[in-house]
Amino acid sequence: MSERAPLLASDSEEHDARNHPTPFNITVRSVVWGILTVLTTATLVVMLFFRDRLPDGVKLLPWVGGDPRDPTVAALAILDKSPIIDGHIDLPVIARYQFANNVSSIDLNSNMPGHVDIPRLRKGKVGGFFWSVYVSCPDPKDEGKEFLGAAWQVRYKFCFYVEKENLLLLARDTLEQIDVAKLLIEKYPDTFQFARSSADIKAAVSNGKIAGLLGVEGAHQLGNSIAAVRQYYALGVRYITLTHLCHNAFADSCGLAPGKTPLHNGLSSFGLSLIEEMNRVGILVDLSHTSDSTAAQAIKHSKAPVIWSHSSARAIHAVPRNVPDEILSLIGTGSGQRDAVVMVNFAPYFVAPEGGANVAAVANHIEHISAVTGRQHVGIGSDYDGIEETPTGLEDVSKYPTLIAELYSRGWTQFELAGLAGGNFLRVFEGAERVSKELRAAGVQPVYDLYAKRTDIPH
Ligand SMILES: *[C@@H]1O[C@H](CO)[C@@H](O)[C@H](O)[C@H]1NC(C)=O
Ligand SMILES: [Zn+2]
Repeated sequence: MSERAPLLASDSEEHDARNHPTPFNITVRSVVWGILTVLTTATLVVMLFFRDRLPDGVKLLPWVGGDPRDPTVAALAILDKSPIIDGHIDLPVIARYQFANNVSSIDLNSNMPGHVDIPRLRKGKVGGFFWSVYVSCPDPKDEGKEFLGAAWQVRYKFCFYVEKENLLLLARDTLEQIDVAKLLIEKYPDTFQFARSSADIKAAVSNGKIAGLLGVEGAHQLGNSIAAVRQYYALGVRYITLTHLCHNAFADSCGLAPGKTPLHNGLSSFGLSLIEEMNRVGILVDLSHTSDSTAAQAIKHSKAPVIWSHSSARAIHAVPRNVPDEILSLIGTGSGQRDAVVMVNFAPYFVAPEGGANVAAVANHIEHISAVTGRQHVGIGSDYDGIEETPTGLEDVSKYPTLIAELYSRGWTQFELAGLAGGNFLRVFEGAERVSKELRAAGVQPVYDLYAKRTDIPH
């Protein structure tokens, strides 16, 4: 017991001090509490009202919660995690007609003509895009019903006349455009990573690279051959647009001006076979440029989700290239609806009447489409480098964050905007990959149909 006495004594001394504080203790405590209160209040004020001005590493600390108030800051933060995947960029057209496809003479680190180069892609927070493999249609006046005609005069849309003797040369030119896209991707391994799958896109993005994908714009580039689909797939092509401005053996186009006379009233029976083979191999069906009948029939026939790689909303601006509400209403998660993504085109003549194309007008297209389909079914397909003019505020690939910021300030959440930027496309791509896997696993055979009007092979 005696050994515990001093301890008890000491305890009781401390107890005493707490119950009877000295004036000195009171002063110290008041100062400490005062400083803590001021610090806490200041932190709260900074976090709530000045968060956007804090250094990068601090402003989005997870425990802060909520979204940054400044739309531009919010857009950049969203795109850092979920970068842009653009459905349609025509850089290979610039390579062909301005550089004769000589990749040595193309410097993507320099200020390129057109809308796309590496510095601007980085500034625009791009995580991937489809390099459009584009070969122009035959001149509409020679657009025959046979698609076997020789000596087609085809006109490059802005400035060049090119002669093509027959469909074989279309296929040659397609191979050249695939080649130039791949060579440019390979030339900049620190920037680009070739992608053949949704997993490849994700891997590229997590490596800090820009995924490079191939899309063939116009099934006229198949030379009426479904075998070509399989070989384009082997080369890495992951979408084929069913038509460009011309009708072809597979499907009707919407053309450019209103009132284009239909040829098949949508898909031909050969076109139905084409879709079956695209589903089986795992190439996305792209419905940009198609007629409304083609689009409606393709949505119904395709087992895989479809895309519009670069199309806007007809209800906002009434041109044939835009998607009408009756087609949009087929898209969604409701009963009888199908998954799909409409990747909105920036071409001013599709966005608004002359002089009206700007960031708000493009955002109006996105909001209209998602009002009909849901926000999980919109994406971005700018058509940069394939259009002469651009909307005010969306002059090139560095400007995507401006569009994201516009929608953020209209109340879109970071999750919806991550979907718009690329997530919605990825989901649709994964859906098509799944369908292909299932069809192959079920032993569905390749399509061997030959174009009925061919006479070179007995059939
Ligand atoms: C391709 O471009 C390089 C670099 O400008 C040039 O040296 C070369 O001669 C060009 N090749 C052809 C075939 O024009
Ligand atoms: Zn196009």
